[in-house]
Amino acid sequence: QHIACIFDLDGVLVDTAVYHYKAWKQLANSLGFDFTEHQNEQLKGVNRMRSLDMILQWGGVEKSAEEKEVLAARKNEWYVAMISKMTEAEVLPGSLQLLQELKSQGIKIALGSASKNSSLILERTALAHFFDAIVDGNSVTTSKPDPEVFLKAAELLNASQEDCVVFEDAAAGVQAAIAAGMKVVGIGTIENLPGSDIVIKDLSEITVTEIERLKSLTTD
Ligand code: G6P
Ligand code: MG
Repeated sequence: QHIACIFDLDGVLVDTAVYHYKAWKQLANSLGFDFTEHQNEQLKGVNRMRSLDMILQWGGVEKSAEEKEVLAARKNEWYVAMISKMTEAEVLPGSLQLLQELKSQGIKIALGSASKNSSLILERTALAHFFDAIVDGNSVTTSKPDPEVFLKAAELLNASQEDCVVFEDAAAGVQAAIAAGMKVVGIGTIENLPGSDIVIKDLSEITVTEIERLKSLTTD
């Protein structure tokens, strides 16, 4: 049985994590507070409304459901303005090469992202054609660390969870992959991504052979 690969988008394939951070920071600042880069790690992989809830809590600010809709929309407007100017140059190191290699070997590829903006990003960066299945914030009801996004991706690829390898830069995403019973490659640092089967700096640090070898690892 072949492996199947499920990629998170923001911070794994493309350099958009920095734009999310900028836009949320701008929103927090407009409300009179700030948050740290360390706190920002907790937002990675977490959907828009849940991220806003966490940020408001850090600032000790309470807002009604209606006001929260307005704030989330404002952040998204700033964020979309930034990603609308993205180019193929913002594809992270190693992404293109790995996707090409997987594709040429007939290995199935899915997107497993919390973002509702994934189609714009995939279009701007010319990555859309690599994916056999796309699961994003428009097709799931729960946020990572819930495994829903990855289980849906596996289902669309017609792959069983033991055959899936997930690529994630978010602690919440690593937890989601583990909960889905999948292998997980952390992108970033080991301190930020506990539970990963392996952690690399970026996708240039892993080969298809190494990914296939992960599948035979037993975690118990
Ligand atoms: C990704 C990012 C999060 C972001 C979420 C929703 O998981 O890591 O920082 O909040 O997507 O993105 P969206 O584009 O729908 O606001
Ligand atoms: Mg991410």
